[in-house]
Amino acid sequence: MMIDRRQGPIEEYLQEDHRLLDELRSAGRWWEFRGRLLRHIGLEEKLLFPEARRRRGGQPLPEVARLHEDHGLLATLLVPPPSPQILEAIERLLRPHNALEEGETGVYAQCDALAGDQAAGIADRLRAAPTTPQRENQDGPLVRAQVQRALETLMARNR
Ligand SMILES: [Fe+2]
Ligand SMILES: [Fe+2]
Repeated sequence: MMIDRRQGPIEEYLQEDHRLLDELRSAGRWWEFRGRLLRHIGLEEKLLFPEARRRRGGQPLPEVARLHEDHGLLATLLVPPPSPQILEAIERLLRPHNALEEGETGVYAQCDALAGDQAAGIADRLRAAPTTPQRENQDGPLVRAQVQRALETLMARNR
């Protein structure tokens, strides 16, 4: 338990969003979970990471390469209708992913520190971002092959 560490506004909001995503997923509210996760990924990729990179003189935070790869895997896993195997893979991926983003030395806290007194303004923009319009689930040989490759990438990591 962390006592006495003040979370910044970016960390506070995006961590709250992680909790909401966990709730939707464990309640089996798949469609809402999918839309919310796509929105969350979009916020990190299109707003948060570019802001941090800009404030670091064009250098991305070192963790971002891994987070970006994870986001790509997640997006692939969200394309077909969910199977138990896909749900399990998403859960297994998100645990270490969120751990890299949260906490005292996490990416969100680093983004708060980089943003300084503009962190609250960035958090407001994150909060106000609209829901991502969702495309229907797709299925077929190409989608299955892509999902299979994503699952193999994840398995290779855990070895
Ligand atoms: Fe992320
Ligand atoms: Fe996140």
